[in-house]
Amino acid sequence: MTSLRALLDDATRRLSAAGVGSPRVDAELLLAHCLGVERSRLAVTDDVDPVTAQAFADAVDRRADREPLQHILGRAAFRYLDLAVGPGAFVPRPETELLVDAIRPGLGLGLGEAPIVVDLCAGTGALALAIAQEVPAARVYAVERSDAALAWLRRNTAGTDVTVVPGDVADDGLLPDLRGRVDAVVSNPPYVPAGTPVEPEVRADPDEAVFAGDDGLSVIPNVIARAQALLRPGGVLAVEHDDTHGEAVPALLGDGWRDVADHRDLAGRPRYATAVRA
Ligand SMILES: C[S@@+](CC[C@H](N)C(=O)[O-])C[C@H]1O[C@@H](n2cnc3c(N)ncnc32)[C@H](O)[C@@H]1O
Repeated sequence: MTSLRALLDDATRRLSAAGVGSPRVDAELLLAHCLGVERSRLAVTDDVDPVTAQAFADAVDRRADREPLQHILGRAAFRYLDLAVGPGAFVPRPETELLVDAIRPGLGLGLGEAPIVVDLCAGTGALALAIAQEVPAARVYAVERSDAALAWLRRNTAGTDVTVVPGDVADDGLLPDLRGRVDAVVSNPPYVPAGTPVEPEVRADPDEAVFAGDDGLSVIPNVIARAQALLRPGGVLAVEHDDTHGEAVPALLGDGWRDVADHRDLAGRPRYATAVRA
């Protein structure tokens, strides 16, 4: 048996030296995963058996190589959800959680009680599933183009009422039955300008989930056009963007929109725009 404290201290040092931003938290989450317990149980565990200690060493090696923590755990937390994630799909990020509050009834732009909601560029389904969970009367559609991401999306939405729609936001024939009837469109599309230096973990996300042309704006105009076609008058759009696009994205919301606003994330960076269909 090995002391849990010694294992954690050693792993924390290794991850810190590898440039991992939150080495202690990652070490604890990985050890809890290997032990098959909640992280809070580590406080009441003294020793680790040799098989688990080896599994933990392997997991720490992977994380020290900057494989995303969520890929090693196979899970990502988002709002109140625990999503299955892995190679081929974008790992949901905490800043995207803000878009749920932007459209929740009684909050933000204040939807009705039983809205129709469309998540464009749905990835693993983080936004679609969070809205379905937190607004139980909502009818939610999740649009995604990538086959690899669709596999994760189908896995996460299995057993829920979220409707998966394989499709491209560049397609102006998308969701023809919903034209003019949708109450809210949410989207976290790819938006990073090509060539932007990114952390090693981001390189594990598919390029098509992250980058959007030289200026990072090759997809958002299609998101806005689809939202314009799908939303009813008074319907709301919330779209995440790069922190350099706090003026560029609102400027794309011209005729056909009112109450255009841009919002900051918890780090104070411009992060998403909202608008109401005129
Ligand atoms: C930044 S990821 C966001 C995924 C998810 N919304 C989230 O927040 O975790 C962008 C997603 O858009 C998808 N995508 C990229 N271009 C698309 C397009 N033209 N039509 C539909 N989906 C697209 C990618 O495959 C990827 O899953």
